[in-house]
Amino acid sequence: MGMIRDVVAIDGPAGSGKSSVSRSVAGRLGYVYLDTGAMYRAVALAAGRMGLDLEDGPGLGGLCRGLDLSFATDGDHARLFLGEEDISDAIRTPEMDMLSSAVSAVPEVRQAMTGLQRRMGETGKVVAEGRDMGTVVFPEARHKFFLTASPAVRAERRYQERVGRGETVSLQRVAEELKRRDRQDESRAVAPLRAAEDALVVDTTDLTLEQVISFIIRTVGRGDDPRPE
Ligand code: DC
Repeated sequence: MGMIRDVVAIDGPAGSGKSSVSRSVAGRLGYVYLDTGAMYRAVALAAGRMGLDLEDGPGLGGLCRGLDLSFATDGDHARLFLGEEDISDAIRTPEMDMLSSAVSAVPEVRQAMTGLQRRMGETGKVVAEGRDMGTVVFPEARHKFFLTASPAVRAERRYQERVGRGETVSLQRVAEELKRRDRQDESRAVAPLRAAEDALVVDTTDLTLEQVISFIIRTVGRGDDPRPE
């Protein structure tokens, strides 16, 4: 069986390099890039605007089911639209970092988004990036990668990203926020951040982006699959 088994699942914590890697791997394979973190960020943005309470599981679940989300590409950049509005920049703020992590712990939110992500992965030609792609959303995927890196290197990468966006922030502050978000994502009851048992764990601390990308491309290209159909 093909289709969902052909999804390439890439999980890992913030700053592990998974976004840059996933986007590039998708481009080279000619697959669609599915950024599920951006989807949780969109939920956070919409919930914040509507003033929905984080305790209101049913309300948040309803919001997710009615969300009109669409991805578009603009050259090398992936853009996300909420209805007609391009929300790509609005979801990349420190506030949305923390709020997306918080809403993503709500069971009704996870259930709605998991269903939506599965439908988006049905064609199989998808590189799906997130926290639970290999464990919950696409457990049957043939290729699963879990990217990690030391906390210091992850903080440095996030710091450079934010400074590059023109933010004024200290490395120490970035490191603290990262730690808090990791802890929140790892400790939630539903679909916590962790590597699937059959995922290849890649420590990117001392690797260049290109090294990680070509490792994944080679592994996928070889079609390694230890599991029978
Ligand atoms: O990858 P990201 O930083 O854009 O993700 C933002 C938050 O969304 C992250 O802190 C946890 C949540 N998330 C999730 O729970 N499951 C996913 N598959 C992707 C993201």
